Amino acid sequence: MSDIKKGLAGVVADETSISKVNPETNSLLYRGYPVQELASTQPFEAVAYLLWHGELPTDEQLAEFRVAERAHRALQPAVKAAIDQLPLDSHPMDEVRMAVDAIGAIETAGSGNVLDAVGTPKENLERSLRLFAALPAIVAYGQRRRRGLEPVDPRDDLDYAANFLWLTFGEEADPVVVEAFNRSMTLYAEHSFNASTFTARVITSTLSDLYSAVVGAIGALKGPLHGGANEAVQHIFEEIGSAEKVAEWLDAALAEKRKIMGFGHRVYKRGDSRVPTMKASLDTLVEFYDRSDVAELYATLESEFVGRKGIYPNLDYPSGPAYNLIGFDTLTFTPLFVAARVTGWTAHILEQQASNALIRPLSAYNGVDERHIAGYVPDAATL
Ligand code: CMC
Repeated sequence: MSDIKKGLAGVVADETSISKVNPETNSLLYRGYPVQELASTQPFEAVAYLLWHGELPTDEQLAEFRVAERAHRALQPAVKAAIDQLPLDSHPMDEVRMAVDAIGAIETAGSGNVLDAVGTPKENLERSLRLFAALPAIVAYGQRRRRGLEPVDPRDDLDYAANFLWLTFGEEADPVVVEAFNRSMTLYAEHSFNASTFTARVITSTLSDLYSAVVGAIGALKGPLHGGANEAVQHIFEEIGSAEKVAEWLDAALAEKRKIMGFGHRVYKRGDSRVPTMKASLDTLVEFYDRSDVAELYATLESEFVGRKGIYPNLDYPSGPAYNLIGFDTLTFTPLFVAARVTGWTAHILEQQASNALIRPLSAYNGVDERHIAGYVPDAATL
C-alpha cells in the first residue's frame, strides 16, 4: 500500500490548541508563547497553569494555584509503601509508573464501573494538579531510597523547582541551580503529539481514566528514542570519558551503526528550538560547579557528530549533563522528564476528553492469504 506512513511520520492526527511546533522557523509555542520566553521568565507553576488554562495566571491566580499545589506535595504513605515493595535496583521509571498507578487506584476507588472511570472535566483538572504536585516527592524518594536515605518533608516556603531539589537532596539549592532546573522543567513540559502524549491521547480516546493514560505515557517516555535519551546521553558521556577520546569513540560507534543519543529529532531537522535555552543553563552550571571538562566533552561530541552526519542535538543532549551536574542519579533523569511532561500530558488528556473520537487507525495486512484447517467442518452454531 503506497499511503502507509511508517511511524505515522508526517501524519496530522488531530488539532490541538496547547502547543505549536514549527520546524521551519525553529519555534515551539505553548499557548502562543515562545517556550524560550516562558523558560527564562516564569516559575514552572505558572507554565503548568498556562498549559491547563490557556492563559498565564495573574499574581492572585498564581498565589491560589501555589496554595493548592503545596497542599498535595507530601508523599502519601500508601504510595511510599507501594514503592518500597519494589527491588532497589528496579528502574526508577518503573517505580514512578507504579506510583502513578497506585495513586490512580486509590483516587478512583469506589468510583464504580468503567463507565464512571473517566470523571468530569473539573475532577480531571483537580487530578492533574494533584499528580503534578505529588510527582516531585515520588521521584525524589526514588533517588533517596537507592542511597539509603529517608524521605524529607516538603517545604511550603519554596516554589516548585526549589522544593523539588530540597526533596531530593535534603538541602536548599543555590538560586543558580534552581533557575537551571526550573528552566529544564518548562522546556520538557509540552511538545504537541510526541509519542508519550499521543499514547496518553489514545488511551483517553477509549474513555479510560486519566491515571491509565498517564501510566501509558510513562511507559512510552521510558524508551531511549524518546525520554530515555536524557539518561542515555549521560551513559555515553561516561563511556567516552573525555573530549580527546571523542573522535575515536565516534568512529567505533558509527561503524557499529549505533544511534548517538541526544541527537536527531523526528520533527526538527535543523536543530531543536529548546536546545540553546537549556545549553545556556548548562553553561551556568558548568561555571557554578567548575566543570569545564563537561563543557569540553559536550562541545567536542557536538561538533564531531554534527560535522560528520549533519544531525543536531535535541533537548536531551544539554539536559542529561545538566542533571548530572546538579547531582541527580543518571537513572533519575527520565523521571524528572515525567514530572515536567505530566503537565503537557494532562492538558492533552483534558483536550482529548473535551472533543473525543476513538483513535483507531487501520493497518495494511501483509500476512498469508486466507486458509483453512484441513478436515474442519463448521457446525451450525458458527455459521
Ligand atoms: N545517531 C545516529 N544516526 C541517527 C541519529 C542518531 N542520533 N538520528 C538519526 N540518525 C540517522 C538514522 O540512522 C537514519 O539514517 P539512515 O537513513 O542512513 O538509516 C537517519 O538519520 C534518519 O533517522 P530515523 O531514526 O529514521 O529518523 P526519525 O525521525 O525516525 O528519528 C529519532 C528520530 C529521535 C528517533 C532519532 O533521531 C534517534 O534515534 N535519536 C537518538 C535518540 C534521541 O536522542 N531521542 C530523543 C528525541 S527528542 C526528545 C525526546 O523526545 O525526548
